[in-house]
Amino acid sequence: MDYRVTSLTVEQTREWGKKLGECLGGGSVVALLGDLGAGKTAFAQGVGEALGVIGPMTSPTFTLIHEYIARLKGTQVRLIHMDLYRLQRPEEAEVIGVEDAFVEDAVCLIEWPEIIEDYLPEDRLDVVIIGSGEQPREIIFHAKDSDWETRLKDMI
Ligand SMILES: Nc1ncnc2c1ncn2[C@@H]1O[C@H](COP(=O)(O)OP(=O)(O)OP(=O)(O)O)[C@@H](O)[C@H]1O
Ligand SMILES: [Mg+2]
Repeated sequence: MDYRVTSLTVEQTREWGKKLGECLGGGSVVALLGDLGAGKTAFAQGVGEALGVIGPMTSPTFTLIHEYIARLKGTQVRLIHMDLYRLQRPEEAEVIGVEDAFVEDAVCLIEWPEIIEDYLPEDRLDVVIIGSGEQPREIIFHAKDSDWETRLKDMI
């Protein structure tokens, strides 16, 4: 089932990221989909805020992966933020160790996940951000199973 919300400003998009962050658990994988400038990084920054990330979360556009120390209900985890826009071929996912991020002691956020679709875990949340520039955004949370469904229901 899809849950749709509207965001009129970058702050609101961050706020939705923060709300989602409060529902995540160890091993959560969130695929962030949307055009260039949709607000994927802004949303990821909100998740980071919920997870107590200290310091600025910048876009991993050139490095592909940034890793932060984060906390989930008092337990330390890694927040792994990927931007795979520059990945040329899916096989490169293995080289950069994408699958190492899908583990219980990490929360993983992936911008431009399309190229590694075959490597993505089934159990993940897709967040689609529609709109760019100064347009309002529609944020769609796509719950694939009852577990995500319950978490999103509580969030919205
Ligand atoms: N409602 C909104 N939500 C999110 N961003 C907004 C909104 N309105 C305007 N913006 C602007 O859109 C831009 C979103 O940038 P951001 O880097 O988060 O996008 P992105 O999806 O990560 O892009 P990329 O694909 O290049 O990584 C920012 O400049 C932000 O200020
Ligand atoms: Mg980005």
